[in-house]
Amino acid sequence: MRTQVVIVGGGPSGLLLGQLLHRAGIETVVLERQSRAYVLGRIRAGVLERGLVGLMGEAGVDARMKAEGFVHDGTQIAYDHEMFRVDFAEHTGATVLVYGQTEVTRDLYEARDATGGDTRFEVDNVVIDGADTDAPYVMFDHEGKRVRIDCDFVAGCDGFHGVSRKTIPDAVRRDYEKVYPFGWLGVLSETPPVHPELIYANSDRGFALCSMRNANLSRYYIQCEMSDSPDNWTDDAFWDELRRRIPQAAADTLVTGPSIEKSIAPLRSYVCEPMRWGRLFLCGDAAHIVPPTGAKGLNTAASDVHYLNQGLRQFYATGDSHELDAYSSNALARVWKTQRFSWWFSNLMHRYPGQSDFDRNMQLAELAFLRDSPEAQAAMAQNYVGLPY
Ligand code: APR
Ligand code: PHB
Repeated sequence: MRTQVVIVGGGPSGLLLGQLLHRAGIETVVLERQSRAYVLGRIRAGVLERGLVGLMGEAGVDARMKAEGFVHDGTQIAYDHEMFRVDFAEHTGATVLVYGQTEVTRDLYEARDATGGDTRFEVDNVVIDGADTDAPYVMFDHEGKRVRIDCDFVAGCDGFHGVSRKTIPDAVRRDYEKVYPFGWLGVLSETPPVHPELIYANSDRGFALCSMRNANLSRYYIQCEMSDSPDNWTDDAFWDELRRRIPQAAADTLVTGPSIEKSIAPLRSYVCEPMRWGRLFLCGDAAHIVPPTGAKGLNTAASDVHYLNQGLRQFYATGDSHELDAYSSNALARVWKTQRFSWWFSNLMHRYPGQSDFDRNMQLAELAFLRDSPEAQAAMAQNYVGLPY
């Protein structure tokens, strides 16, 4: 079998790329290790930058998002019993859209179904071969058979634990990583959000975040130890700790309920360079990971998809490979800026184990500066709504 682009990974990166390429008449096959139900069962952040919202429009997949998503033109920052607002619209003229990532993925799968796109679920033992030649191909197990697909290009959209990044030889690849000494314990509850906007809180007891999916589905997080487990937390213990970390007015009005999902996510910053090796192009979590502070994971995947979509369209339309040749440097230029923002926001909002009094005062001073400085808030807002592609 032959196709133009094999996309390894049927998460948001792979599906968005597949849909954009379809709109340009470029044929793809998506290979997904899990079942569709498993992929759609993942609970992930739901804050979409303007760039991603635009790409979903380009892909023709933004109808439900626009109908059901919540436009947020600011966010709340809480610390030391204070709370102030950073107004995105005032500083950037832009907003973000709160819309569950699971819904983004669902919309993309439904769009791919409508195009008759070839998607293979529950594939195994994927091997990318010949990426450093003009005739790459992908081998995989599917429905009891070993299958080979020859192609022009391979998009590695298979996340941090996929095979694509590992296909780039160690001698070629450079890895950059920072592991944070804490995690996020997250709870999903069928309760009304405590505030119409997100609340990022830095308290003496640690970080907390109040977020939402819709008017009756809330998402809350508290910073926890890396060694912690969701089993260590009853719902009541979680709600009590959350109340201790958010402003009193919010704690007093918090509506609690049974958790319908409870999990712990580690925090890591990671970048792989280059994001291209021959005819293999890495997109999204296959190439980089950010701490969730600021919800940049999916949004950075989207900018990768934008650059790769542009490059492949140029190649198939004109035979010119300049944009493909610039893909890795263009994508990484924005990846590193997003890494910096996620690192900065994580360091500002979390209590490091063994944090010195001096370092705590540095955090409080920077929070006070952010509170008082329109220029500092403008810088944060530009990063939060999304830097230009
Ligand atoms: N073969 C085929 N598919 C694979 C393989 C493999 N060897 N390994 C992983 N996959 C699949 C996973 O099952 C998953 O569905 O690739 C997909 C990768 O999806 P994500 O991990 O979600 O990564 P990505 O699509 O880049 O999404 C980027 O969105 O998922 C959110 O916030 C999350 O930062 C992340 C962002
Ligand atoms: C979420 O709603 O899950 C969320 C929102 C903002 C973040 C991280 C997670 O920064």
